[in-house]
Amino acid sequence: MSQTKSLNVDYNYTVVRLFAVTTVLWGIVGMGLGVLLAAQLYWPALNFDTAWFTYSRLRPLHTNAVIFAFGTSALFATSYYVVQRTCQVRLFAEKLAMFTFIGWQAVIIAAIITLPQGIGNSSKEYAELEWPIDILIALVWISYAVVFFGTLVKRKTSHIYVANWFYGGFIITVAALHIVNSMAVPVSLTKSYSVYAGAVDAMVQWWYGHNAVGFLLTAGFLGMMYYFVPKQAGRPVYSYRLSVVHFWALIALYIWAGSHHLHYTALPDWTQSVGMVMSVILFVPSWGGMINGIMTLSGAWHKLKTDPILRFLIVSLSFYGMSTFEGPMMAIKSVNALSHYTDWTVGHVHSGALGWVAMVSIGAIYHLIPNIYNQGRMYSIKLINTHFWLHTIGVVLYIVAMWISGIMQGMMWRAVNTDGTLTYSFVQSLEASYPFYLMRFIGGCFVVAGMLVMAYNVVKTIRANDGALEPVAEAA
Ligand code: HEM
Ligand code: HEM
Repeated sequence: MSQTKSLNVDYNYTVVRLFAVTTVLWGIVGMGLGVLLAAQLYWPALNFDTAWFTYSRLRPLHTNAVIFAFGTSALFATSYYVVQRTCQVRLFAEKLAMFTFIGWQAVIIAAIITLPQGIGNSSKEYAELEWPIDILIALVWISYAVVFFGTLVKRKTSHIYVANWFYGGFIITVAALHIVNSMAVPVSLTKSYSVYAGAVDAMVQWWYGHNAVGFLLTAGFLGMMYYFVPKQAGRPVYSYRLSVVHFWALIALYIWAGSHHLHYTALPDWTQSVGMVMSVILFVPSWGGMINGIMTLSGAWHKLKTDPILRFLIVSLSFYGMSTFEGPMMAIKSVNALSHYTDWTVGHVHSGALGWVAMVSIGAIYHLIPNIYNQGRMYSIKLINTHFWLHTIGVVLYIVAMWISGIMQGMMWRAVNTDGTLTYSFVQSLEASYPFYLMRFIGGCFVVAGMLVMAYNVVKTIRANDGALEPVAEAA
Protein backbone atom coordinates (compact mmCIF):
# COMPACT_ATOMS: atom_id res chain seq x y z
CA MET A 1 0.00 0.00 0.00
CA SER A 2 1.27 3.45 -0.84
CA GLN A 3 2.00 5.68 2.09
CA THR A 4 3.28 9.18 2.53
CA LYS A 5 4.95 10.53 5.65
CA SER A 6 3.92 13.72 7.37
CA LEU A 7 4.46 14.55 11.05
CA ASN A 8 6.22 11.16 11.16
CA VAL A 9 2.94 9.36 10.53
CA ASP A 10 2.56 6.92 7.63
CA TYR A 11 -0.76 7.78 6.07
CA ASN A 12 -2.63 5.39 3.80
CA TYR A 13 -3.20 7.33 0.61
CA THR A 14 -4.01 4.39 -1.69
CA VAL A 15 -7.73 4.58 -1.20
CA VAL A 16 -7.62 8.40 -1.16
CA ARG A 17 -5.88 8.35 -4.56
CA LEU A 18 -8.41 5.93 -6.03
CA PHE A 19 -11.38 8.00 -4.91
CA ALA A 20 -9.71 11.28 -5.97
CA VAL A 21 -9.07 10.05 -9.50
CA THR A 22 -12.56 8.54 -9.86
CA THR A 23 -14.04 11.87 -8.69
CA VAL A 24 -12.62 13.50 -11.82
CA LEU A 25 -13.66 10.61 -14.06
CA TRP A 26 -17.25 10.48 -12.75
CA GLY A 27 -17.41 14.27 -12.83
CA ILE A 28 -16.85 14.17 -16.57
CA VAL A 29 -19.35 11.33 -17.08
CA GLY A 30 -22.07 12.81 -14.83
CA MET A 31 -21.80 16.37 -16.10
CA GLY A 32 -21.44 15.09 -19.69
CA LEU A 33 -24.80 13.36 -19.16
CA GLY A 34 -26.19 16.70 -17.88
CA VAL A 35 -25.12 18.35 -21.14
CA LEU A 36 -26.78 15.54 -23.09
CA LEU A 37 -30.03 16.07 -21.15
CA ALA A 38 -29.82 19.82 -21.75
CA ALA A 39 -29.36 19.10 -25.47
CA GLN A 40 -32.31 16.67 -25.52
CA LEU A 41 -34.55 19.31 -23.97
CA TYR A 42 -33.62 21.68 -26.79
CA TRP A 43 -33.40 19.11 -29.63
CA PRO A 44 -35.86 16.34 -28.60
CA ALA A 45 -34.90 14.25 -31.66
CA LEU A 46 -31.62 13.51 -29.88
CA ASN A 47 -33.25 10.55 -28.15
CA PHE A 48 -33.03 8.76 -31.55
CA ASP A 49 -36.25 6.89 -30.73
CA THR A 50 -34.18 4.52 -28.63
CA ALA A 51 -35.76 3.51 -25.33
CA TRP A 52 -32.58 3.45 -23.22
CA PHE A 53 -31.44 6.78 -24.64
CA THR A 54 -34.61 8.69 -23.75
CA TYR A 55 -34.63 11.68 -21.39
CA SER A 56 -36.71 9.87 -18.76
CA ARG A 57 -34.14 7.09 -18.41
CA LEU A 58 -31.03 9.25 -18.62
CA ARG A 59 -32.23 11.89 -16.14
CA PRO A 60 -31.96 9.61 -13.07
CA LEU A 61 -28.62 8.41 -14.43
CA HIS A 62 -27.39 12.02 -14.44
CA THR A 63 -28.57 12.70 -10.89
CA ASN A 64 -27.13 9.41 -9.60
CA ALA A 65 -23.85 9.96 -11.44
CA VAL A 66 -23.27 13.52 -10.21
CA ILE A 67 -24.47 13.01 -6.64
CA PHE A 68 -23.33 9.48 -5.86
CA ALA A 69 -20.46 8.92 -8.30
CA PHE A 70 -18.86 12.38 -8.53
CA GLY A 71 -19.92 14.08 -5.29
CA THR A 72 -19.74 11.06 -3.00
CA SER A 73 -16.35 9.94 -4.40
CA ALA A 74 -15.07 13.43 -3.54
CA LEU A 75 -16.47 12.99 -0.03
CA PHE A 76 -14.84 9.57 0.39
CA ALA A 77 -11.47 10.84 -0.88
CA THR A 78 -11.40 13.98 1.24
CA SER A 79 -12.85 12.43 4.42
CA TYR A 80 -10.26 9.61 4.39
CA TYR A 81 -7.54 12.23 3.81
CA VAL A 82 -8.77 14.69 6.42
CA VAL A 83 -9.52 12.17 9.17
CA GLN A 84 -6.00 10.71 8.95
CA ARG A 85 -4.23 14.05 8.92
CA THR A 86 -6.28 15.67 11.68
CA CYS A 87 -6.10 12.57 13.90
CA GLN A 88 -2.45 11.90 13.00
CA VAL A 89 -2.99 8.17 12.51
CA ARG A 90 -3.37 5.78 9.57
CA LEU A 91 -6.84 4.69 8.53
CA PHE A 92 -8.51 2.10 10.72
CA ALA A 93 -9.40 -1.23 8.99
CA GLU A 94 -7.56 -0.55 5.74
CA LYS A 95 -8.98 -3.58 3.94
CA LEU A 96 -12.48 -2.43 4.77
CA ALA A 97 -11.57 0.99 3.35
CA MET A 98 -10.55 -0.75 0.12
CA PHE A 99 -13.89 -2.60 0.17
CA THR A 100 -15.69 0.76 0.33
CA PHE A 101 -13.90 1.77 -2.87
CA ILE A 102 -14.62 -1.45 -4.77
CA GLY A 103 -18.18 -1.70 -3.41
CA TRP A 104 -18.98 1.93 -4.30
CA GLN A 105 -17.69 1.53 -7.86
CA ALA A 106 -19.83 -1.62 -8.15
CA VAL A 107 -22.88 0.43 -7.08
CA ILE A 108 -22.12 3.02 -9.77
CA ILE A 109 -21.63 0.40 -12.49
CA ALA A 110 -24.90 -1.29 -11.42
CA ALA A 111 -26.67 2.09 -11.74
CA ILE A 112 -25.22 2.58 -15.23
CA ILE A 113 -26.49 -0.85 -16.26
CA THR A 114 -29.96 -0.77 -14.68
CA LEU A 115 -31.24 2.81 -14.98
CA PRO A 116 -31.12 3.09 -18.81
CA GLN A 117 -33.02 -0.22 -18.97
CA GLY A 118 -35.81 1.34 -16.96
CA ILE A 119 -35.09 -0.87 -13.93
CA GLY A 120 -35.61 1.10 -10.74
CA ASN A 121 -38.10 2.74 -8.45
CA SER A 122 -39.04 5.88 -10.37
CA SER A 123 -41.24 7.32 -7.59
CA LYS A 124 -38.21 7.75 -5.32
CA GLU A 125 -36.09 10.56 -6.69
CA TYR A 126 -32.38 10.13 -5.84
CA ALA A 127 -33.21 6.64 -4.48
CA GLU A 128 -34.21 4.96 -7.74
CA LEU A 129 -31.85 1.97 -7.51
CA GLU A 130 -33.41 -1.47 -7.00
CA TRP A 131 -33.24 -3.41 -3.76
CA PRO A 132 -30.13 -5.62 -4.40
CA ILE A 133 -28.12 -2.45 -5.13
CA ASP A 134 -29.66 -0.78 -2.07
CA ILE A 135 -28.36 -3.62 0.09
CA LEU A 136 -24.87 -3.17 -1.36
CA ILE A 137 -25.08 0.59 -0.66
CA ALA A 138 -26.02 -0.13 2.98
CA LEU A 139 -23.08 -2.55 3.37
CA VAL A 140 -20.60 -0.07 1.88
CA TRP A 141 -21.95 2.74 4.01
CA ILE A 142 -21.74 0.79 7.26
CA SER A 143 -18.15 -0.16 6.36
CA TYR A 144 -17.42 3.52 5.68
CA ALA A 145 -18.73 4.38 9.16
CA VAL A 146 -16.52 1.69 10.74
CA VAL A 147 -13.40 2.98 8.94
CA PHE A 148 -14.13 6.64 9.67
CA PHE A 149 -15.17 6.36 13.30
CA GLY A 150 -12.52 3.66 13.96
CA THR A 151 -9.89 6.15 12.81
CA LEU A 152 -11.36 8.82 15.08
CA VAL A 153 -11.26 6.41 18.03
CA LYS A 154 -7.57 5.60 17.58
CA ARG A 155 -6.57 9.27 17.04
CA LYS A 156 -3.41 10.65 18.61
CA THR A 157 -4.85 14.13 19.10
CA SER A 158 -7.01 15.02 22.08
CA HIS A 159 -9.38 17.13 20.00
CA ILE A 160 -11.74 16.12 17.16
CA TYR A 161 -11.32 18.80 14.50
CA VAL A 162 -14.64 20.34 13.38
CA ALA A 163 -14.37 19.02 9.80
CA ASN A 164 -14.68 15.51 11.24
CA TRP A 165 -17.88 16.46 13.06
CA PHE A 166 -19.43 17.43 9.74
CA TYR A 167 -18.16 14.29 7.98
CA GLY A 168 -19.32 12.13 10.90
CA GLY A 169 -22.80 13.72 10.96
CA PHE A 170 -23.11 13.19 7.22
CA ILE A 171 -22.06 9.50 7.42
CA ILE A 172 -24.47 8.60 10.24
CA THR A 173 -27.45 10.48 8.80
CA VAL A 174 -27.05 9.16 5.25
CA ALA A 175 -27.01 5.58 6.63
CA ALA A 176 -30.28 6.19 8.49
CA LEU A 177 -31.94 7.97 5.55
CA HIS A 178 -30.96 5.32 3.04
CA ILE A 179 -32.03 2.37 5.16
CA VAL A 180 -35.40 3.84 6.18
CA ASN A 181 -36.35 5.16 2.72
CA SER A 182 -35.29 2.01 0.86
CA MET A 183 -37.47 -0.39 2.89
CA ALA A 184 -39.25 -2.42 0.21
CA VAL A 185 -40.88 -5.76 -0.50
CA PRO A 186 -39.05 -7.47 -3.38
CA VAL A 187 -41.17 -9.36 -5.94
CA SER A 188 -38.26 -10.30 -8.21
CA LEU A 189 -34.58 -9.47 -8.55
CA THR A 190 -35.41 -6.32 -10.49
CA LYS A 191 -38.72 -5.22 -8.97
CA SER A 192 -39.85 -4.22 -5.49
CA TYR A 193 -42.57 -2.15 -3.85
CA SER A 194 -42.04 0.40 -1.09
CA VAL A 195 -43.35 -0.66 2.31
CA TYR A 196 -44.90 2.80 2.67
CA ALA A 197 -48.04 3.88 0.85
CA GLY A 198 -49.64 7.12 -0.33
CA ALA A 199 -48.89 10.32 1.56
CA VAL A 200 -46.66 8.45 4.05
CA ASP A 201 -44.50 7.22 1.16
CA ALA A 202 -44.20 10.78 -0.15
CA MET A 203 -43.32 12.09 3.31
CA VAL A 204 -40.62 9.45 3.90
CA GLN A 205 -39.25 10.03 0.38
CA TRP A 206 -38.85 13.79 0.88
CA TRP A 207 -37.57 13.39 4.42
CA TYR A 208 -34.87 11.35 2.64
CA GLY A 209 -34.63 13.62 -0.41
CA HIS A 210 -34.21 16.84 1.48
CA ASN A 211 -31.75 15.39 3.94
CA ALA A 212 -29.75 13.92 1.07
CA VAL A 213 -29.37 17.61 0.18
CA GLY A 214 -28.82 18.69 3.79
CA PHE A 215 -26.40 16.02 4.87
CA LEU A 216 -24.79 14.64 1.70
CA LEU A 217 -24.75 17.75 -0.51
CA THR A 218 -24.26 20.16 2.40
CA ALA A 219 -22.87 18.77 5.70
CA GLY A 220 -20.31 16.50 3.99
CA PHE A 221 -19.08 19.32 1.78
CA LEU A 222 -18.95 21.67 4.77
CA GLY A 223 -16.54 19.16 6.33
CA MET A 224 -14.47 19.59 3.18
CA MET A 225 -14.73 23.37 3.41
CA TYR A 226 -13.64 23.51 7.07
CA TYR A 227 -10.42 21.67 6.27
CA PHE A 228 -9.44 22.86 2.79
CA VAL A 229 -10.29 26.59 3.05
CA PRO A 230 -8.04 27.20 6.09
CA LYS A 231 -5.32 24.94 4.61
CA GLN A 232 -5.29 26.64 1.22
CA ALA A 233 -5.52 30.13 2.76
CA GLY A 234 -2.83 29.31 5.32
CA ARG A 235 -5.05 30.82 8.03
CA PRO A 236 -6.95 29.32 10.99
CA VAL A 237 -10.77 29.08 10.77
CA TYR A 238 -12.18 32.58 11.41
CA SER A 239 -14.26 31.51 14.41
CA TYR A 240 -13.97 27.99 15.72
CA ARG A 241 -16.86 28.61 18.11
CA LEU A 242 -19.10 29.66 15.22
CA SER A 243 -18.19 26.46 13.34
CA VAL A 244 -19.41 24.34 16.25
CA VAL A 245 -22.64 26.39 16.50
CA HIS A 246 -23.01 26.02 12.71
CA PHE A 247 -22.74 22.23 13.04
CA TRP A 248 -25.29 21.76 15.82
CA ALA A 249 -27.76 24.25 14.34
CA LEU A 250 -27.70 22.49 10.95
CA ILE A 251 -28.11 19.08 12.57
CA ALA A 252 -31.05 20.30 14.63
CA LEU A 253 -32.87 22.09 11.79
CA TYR A 254 -32.32 20.28 8.48
CA ILE A 255 -34.10 17.11 9.52
CA TRP A 256 -37.44 18.99 9.88
CA ALA A 257 -37.46 20.81 6.56
CA GLY A 258 -38.22 18.02 4.02
CA SER A 259 -41.94 18.73 3.76
CA HIS A 260 -41.20 21.99 1.86
CA HIS A 261 -40.94 19.69 -1.18
CA LEU A 262 -44.60 18.76 -0.73
CA HIS A 263 -46.38 22.10 -0.37
CA TYR A 264 -50.04 22.07 -1.45
CA THR A 265 -50.18 18.25 -1.51
CA ALA A 266 -52.16 15.65 0.46
CA LEU A 267 -49.70 15.99 3.33
CA PRO A 268 -51.32 17.40 6.52
CA ASP A 269 -51.17 21.19 6.39
CA TRP A 270 -49.32 21.53 9.70
CA THR A 271 -46.42 19.39 8.43
CA GLN A 272 -46.06 21.72 5.46
CA SER A 273 -45.98 24.69 7.84
CA VAL A 274 -43.33 23.02 10.04
CA GLY A 275 -41.20 22.44 6.93
CA MET A 276 -41.62 26.05 5.86
CA VAL A 277 -40.72 27.53 9.27
CA MET A 278 -37.69 25.28 9.80
CA SER A 279 -36.44 26.09 6.28
CA VAL A 280 -36.66 29.83 6.89
CA ILE A 281 -34.76 29.49 10.18
CA LEU A 282 -32.10 27.41 8.36
CA PHE A 283 -31.00 30.55 6.58
CA VAL A 284 -29.33 31.82 9.78
CA PRO A 285 -26.82 29.01 10.52
CA SER A 286 -26.19 28.53 6.80
CA TRP A 287 -25.09 32.13 6.43
CA GLY A 288 -23.15 31.93 9.70
CA GLY A 289 -21.16 29.06 8.18
CA MET A 290 -20.70 30.82 4.87
CA ILE A 291 -19.43 33.99 6.56
CA ASN A 292 -17.13 31.90 8.78
CA GLY A 293 -15.59 30.29 5.68
CA ILE A 294 -15.16 33.51 3.75
CA MET A 295 -13.81 35.47 6.74
CA THR A 296 -11.14 32.79 7.18
CA LEU A 297 -9.42 34.74 4.42
CA SER A 298 -9.06 37.81 6.71
CA GLY A 299 -5.52 39.03 6.26
CA ALA A 300 -5.00 36.82 3.21
CA TRP A 301 -7.38 38.38 0.68
CA HIS A 302 -4.47 39.15 -1.64
CA LYS A 303 -4.01 35.39 -2.19
CA LEU A 304 -7.22 35.38 -4.24
CA LYS A 305 -5.36 37.28 -6.97
CA THR A 306 -2.79 34.58 -7.51
CA ASP A 307 -4.32 31.36 -6.23
CA PRO A 308 -7.06 29.87 -8.44
CA ILE A 309 -7.59 26.95 -6.02
CA LEU A 310 -8.53 29.41 -3.29
CA ARG A 311 -10.78 31.16 -5.80
CA PHE A 312 -12.64 27.88 -6.43
CA LEU A 313 -13.12 27.43 -2.68
CA ILE A 314 -14.23 30.97 -1.92
CA VAL A 315 -16.57 31.28 -4.92
CA SER A 316 -18.10 27.93 -3.88
CA LEU A 317 -18.94 29.53 -0.54
CA SER A 318 -20.60 32.45 -2.29
CA PHE A 319 -22.80 29.97 -4.17
CA TYR A 320 -23.49 28.18 -0.87
CA GLY A 321 -24.69 31.52 0.51
CA MET A 322 -26.76 32.19 -2.58
CA SER A 323 -28.53 28.83 -2.62
CA THR A 324 -29.18 28.87 1.13
CA PHE A 325 -30.80 32.27 0.78
CA GLU A 326 -32.85 31.19 -2.23
CA GLY A 327 -33.91 27.83 -0.66
CA PRO A 328 -35.56 29.31 2.46
CA MET A 329 -37.31 31.84 0.23
CA MET A 330 -38.65 29.09 -2.05
CA ALA A 331 -39.82 27.18 1.03
CA ILE A 332 -42.33 29.96 1.84
CA LYS A 333 -45.63 28.58 0.59
CA SER A 334 -46.68 31.62 -1.43
CA VAL A 335 -43.28 31.76 -3.19
CA ASN A 336 -43.35 27.99 -3.76
CA ALA A 337 -46.74 28.39 -5.46
CA LEU A 338 -44.83 30.29 -8.15
CA SER A 339 -41.56 28.33 -8.24
CA HIS A 340 -42.70 24.70 -7.92
CA TYR A 341 -42.62 22.64 -11.15
CA THR A 342 -40.75 25.45 -12.94
CA ASP A 343 -37.12 25.78 -14.01
CA TRP A 344 -36.53 28.04 -11.01
CA THR A 345 -36.16 24.85 -8.93
CA VAL A 346 -33.66 23.49 -11.47
CA GLY A 347 -31.73 26.79 -11.28
CA HIS A 348 -31.68 26.58 -7.46
CA VAL A 349 -30.50 22.95 -7.64
CA HIS A 350 -27.58 23.81 -9.90
CA SER A 351 -26.52 26.95 -8.06
CA GLY A 352 -26.11 24.55 -5.11
CA ALA A 353 -24.79 21.62 -7.14
CA LEU A 354 -22.52 23.24 -9.71
CA GLY A 355 -21.73 26.38 -7.74
CA TRP A 356 -21.30 25.01 -4.22
CA VAL A 357 -20.82 21.20 -4.39
CA ALA A 358 -18.77 20.97 -7.61
CA MET A 359 -16.59 24.03 -6.93
CA VAL A 360 -15.66 23.09 -3.36
CA SER A 361 -14.89 19.53 -4.53
CA ILE A 362 -12.78 20.71 -7.45
CA GLY A 363 -10.84 23.12 -5.18
CA ALA A 364 -10.28 20.36 -2.61
CA ILE A 365 -9.11 17.85 -5.25
CA TYR A 366 -6.65 20.40 -6.70
CA HIS A 367 -5.26 20.91 -3.18
CA LEU A 368 -5.12 17.21 -2.40
CA ILE A 369 -3.70 15.67 -5.61
CA PRO A 370 -0.17 17.12 -5.29
CA ASN A 371 -0.07 16.15 -1.59
CA ILE A 372 -1.00 12.52 -2.16
CA TYR A 373 1.28 12.14 -5.19
CA ASN A 374 4.40 13.65 -3.54
CA GLN A 375 4.38 16.86 -5.56
CA GLY A 376 4.63 20.46 -4.42
CA ARG A 377 1.89 21.72 -6.72
CA MET A 378 -0.37 20.81 -9.66
CA TYR A 379 1.28 20.49 -13.08
CA SER A 380 -0.16 23.79 -14.35
CA ILE A 381 -1.55 26.66 -12.25
CA LYS A 382 -2.56 28.44 -15.46
CA LEU A 383 -4.80 25.53 -16.41
CA ILE A 384 -6.46 25.65 -12.97
CA ASN A 385 -7.17 29.30 -13.69
CA THR A 386 -8.60 28.42 -17.11
CA HIS A 387 -10.79 25.80 -15.42
CA PHE A 388 -11.96 28.33 -12.85
CA TRP A 389 -13.19 30.75 -15.54
CA LEU A 390 -14.74 28.05 -17.73
CA HIS A 391 -16.63 26.69 -14.73
CA THR A 392 -17.72 30.07 -13.37
CA ILE A 393 -18.98 31.30 -16.75
CA GLY A 394 -20.75 27.96 -17.30
CA VAL A 395 -22.54 28.02 -13.93
CA VAL A 396 -23.63 31.64 -14.32
CA LEU A 397 -25.02 30.95 -17.82
CA TYR A 398 -26.86 27.88 -16.47
CA ILE A 399 -28.48 29.43 -13.42
CA VAL A 400 -29.34 32.79 -14.94
CA ALA A 401 -31.07 30.96 -17.83
CA MET A 402 -33.08 28.84 -15.38
CA TRP A 403 -34.04 31.75 -13.14
CA ILE A 404 -35.42 33.72 -16.07
CA SER A 405 -37.20 30.79 -17.68
CA GLY A 406 -38.50 29.53 -14.30
CA ILE A 407 -40.03 32.81 -13.19
CA MET A 408 -41.40 33.35 -16.69
CA GLN A 409 -43.05 29.90 -16.66
CA GLY A 410 -44.57 30.53 -13.22
CA MET A 411 -45.98 33.87 -14.35
CA MET A 412 -47.33 32.48 -17.64
CA TRP A 413 -49.05 29.51 -15.95
CA ARG A 414 -50.90 31.68 -13.46
CA ALA A 415 -51.89 34.47 -15.91
CA VAL A 416 -55.67 34.56 -16.41
CA ASN A 417 -57.93 36.61 -18.65
CA THR A 418 -60.81 38.67 -17.26
CA ASP A 419 -63.23 35.82 -18.09
CA GLY A 420 -61.16 33.41 -15.98
CA THR A 421 -59.60 31.42 -18.84
CA LEU A 422 -55.84 30.88 -19.02
CA THR A 423 -53.92 33.50 -20.98
CA TYR A 424 -51.24 31.09 -22.20
CA SER A 425 -51.29 27.41 -23.13
CA PHE A 426 -48.60 25.13 -21.71
CA VAL A 427 -47.03 24.82 -25.17
CA GLN A 428 -46.67 28.60 -25.39
CA SER A 429 -44.74 28.61 -22.10
CA LEU A 430 -42.54 25.80 -23.45
CA GLU A 431 -41.82 27.72 -26.64
CA ALA A 432 -40.88 30.78 -24.60
CA SER A 433 -38.41 28.63 -22.60
CA TYR A 434 -36.44 27.38 -25.61
CA PRO A 435 -33.86 30.21 -25.83
CA PHE A 436 -33.01 29.59 -22.17
CA TYR A 437 -32.61 25.84 -22.78
CA LEU A 438 -30.03 26.68 -25.43
CA MET A 439 -28.28 29.03 -23.00
CA ARG A 440 -28.17 26.25 -20.36
CA PHE A 441 -26.72 23.83 -22.92
CA ILE A 442 -23.93 26.31 -23.75
CA GLY A 443 -23.24 26.83 -20.02
CA GLY A 444 -23.03 23.05 -19.54
CA CYS A 445 -20.50 22.78 -22.39
CA PHE A 446 -18.28 25.34 -20.61
CA VAL A 447 -18.45 23.33 -17.38
CA VAL A 448 -17.57 20.03 -19.06
CA ALA A 449 -14.74 21.68 -21.01
CA GLY A 450 -13.37 22.81 -17.63
CA MET A 451 -13.57 19.26 -16.29
CA LEU A 452 -11.59 17.98 -19.29
CA VAL A 453 -8.90 20.60 -18.61
CA MET A 454 -8.84 19.37 -15.02
CA ALA A 455 -8.44 15.73 -16.11
CA TYR A 456 -5.44 16.67 -18.28
CA ASN A 457 -3.84 18.62 -15.42
CA VAL A 458 -4.41 15.76 -12.97
CA VAL A 459 -2.92 13.14 -15.34
CA LYS A 460 0.15 15.33 -15.96
CA THR A 461 0.60 15.83 -12.19
CA ILE A 462 0.31 12.13 -11.45
CA ARG A 463 2.72 11.22 -14.24
CA ALA A 464 5.40 13.76 -13.23
CA ASN A 465 8.52 12.31 -11.62
CA ASP A 466 8.38 12.04 -7.83
CA GLY A 467 8.75 15.55 -6.32
CA ALA A 468 9.47 17.15 -9.72
CA LEU A 469 6.77 19.83 -9.38
CA GLU A 470 8.04 22.35 -6.86
CA PRO A 471 5.75 24.72 -4.94
CA VAL A 472 5.23 27.98 -6.83
CA ALA A 473 7.11 30.25 -4.43
CA GLU A 474 10.14 27.99 -4.39
CA ALA A 475 10.09 27.56 -8.16
CA ALA A 476 10.02 31.35 -8.55
C1 HEM B 1 -22.45 20.33 -16.91
C2 HEM B 1 -23.11 20.35 -15.84
C3 HEM B 1 -24.55 19.98 -15.69
C4 HEM B 1 -25.58 20.09 -16.60
C5 HEM B 1 -25.52 20.64 -18.02
C6 HEM B 1 -26.77 19.60 -15.96
C7 HEM B 1 -28.01 19.51 -16.57
C8 HEM B 1 -29.15 19.03 -15.98
C9 HEM B 1 -30.45 18.93 -16.61
C10 HEM B 1 -30.74 19.30 -18.05
C11 HEM B 1 -31.32 18.44 -15.69
C12 HEM B 1 -32.81 18.15 -15.89
C13 HEM B 1 -33.62 19.37 -15.56
C14 HEM B 1 -35.09 19.17 -15.79
O1 HEM B 1 -35.61 18.06 -15.61
O2 HEM B 1 -35.77 20.14 -16.17
C15 HEM B 1 -30.59 18.24 -14.46
C16 HEM B 1 -31.16 17.79 -13.28
C17 HEM B 1 -30.46 17.66 -12.09
N1 HEM B 1 -29.10 17.82 -11.91
FE1 HEM B 1 -27.78 18.52 -13.29
N2 HEM B 1 -26.46 19.23 -14.68
C18 HEM B 1 -25.12 19.44 -14.48
C19 HEM B 1 -24.40 19.19 -13.33
C20 HEM B 1 -24.93 18.73 -12.14
C21 HEM B 1 -24.19 18.51 -10.91
C22 HEM B 1 -22.69 18.70 -10.73
C23 HEM B 1 -25.10 18.09 -9.98
C24 HEM B 1 -24.90 17.69 -8.53
C25 HEM B 1 -23.79 17.69 -7.85
C26 HEM B 1 -26.40 18.05 -10.61
C27 HEM B 1 -27.57 17.67 -9.98
C28 HEM B 1 -28.81 17.61 -10.59
C29 HEM B 1 -30.03 17.30 -9.87
C30 HEM B 1 -30.15 17.02 -8.38
C31 HEM B 1 -31.07 17.34 -10.82
C32 HEM B 1 -32.56 17.11 -10.56
C33 HEM B 1 -33.20 18.45 -10.29
C34 HEM B 1 -34.68 18.41 -9.90
O3 HEM B 1 -35.26 17.34 -9.82
O4 HEM B 1 -35.27 19.49 -9.69
N3 HEM B 1 -26.26 18.44 -11.91
N4 HEM B 1 -29.27 18.60 -14.66
C1 HEM C 1 -31.15 26.51 3.73
C2 HEM C 1 -30.96 25.73 2.77
C3 HEM C 1 -31.95 25.30 1.73
C4 HEM C 1 -33.33 25.31 1.74
C5 HEM C 1 -34.24 25.78 2.84
C6 HEM C 1 -33.77 24.77 0.46
C7 HEM C 1 -35.08 24.70 0.06
C8 HEM C 1 -35.52 24.16 -1.12
C9 HEM C 1 -36.86 24.26 -1.66
C10 HEM C 1 -38.01 25.00 -1.02
C11 HEM C 1 -36.89 23.56 -2.82
C12 HEM C 1 -38.06 23.43 -3.78
C13 HEM C 1 -38.94 22.30 -3.49
C14 HEM C 1 -40.04 22.20 -4.53
O1 HEM C 1 -40.70 23.19 -4.84
O2 HEM C 1 -40.23 21.08 -5.03
C15 HEM C 1 -35.58 23.00 -3.02
C16 HEM C 1 -35.23 22.14 -4.03
C17 HEM C 1 -33.98 21.56 -4.11
N1 HEM C 1 -32.84 21.96 -3.46
FE1 HEM C 1 -32.75 23.27 -1.95
N2 HEM C 1 -32.69 24.41 -0.28
C18 HEM C 1 -31.55 24.71 0.45
C19 HEM C 1 -30.25 24.52 0.05
C20 HEM C 1 -29.87 23.69 -0.98
C21 HEM C 1 -28.51 23.37 -1.34
C22 HEM C 1 -27.25 23.93 -0.67
C23 HEM C 1 -28.59 22.45 -2.35
C24 HEM C 1 -27.53 21.73 -3.14
C25 HEM C 1 -26.44 21.49 -3.01
C26 HEM C 1 -30.00 22.20 -2.63
C27 HEM C 1 -30.49 21.28 -3.52
C28 HEM C 1 -31.81 21.16 -3.86
C29 HEM C 1 -32.30 20.15 -4.77
C30 HEM C 1 -31.49 19.03 -5.43
C31 HEM C 1 -33.67 20.41 -4.95
C32 HEM C 1 -34.63 19.73 -5.92
C33 HEM C 1 -35.29 18.59 -5.33
C34 HEM C 1 -36.23 17.97 -6.34
O3 HEM C 1 -37.36 18.45 -6.49
O4 HEM C 1 -35.82 17.02 -6.99
N3 HEM C 1 -30.74 22.99 -1.80
N4 HEM C 1 -34.76 23.41 -1.98
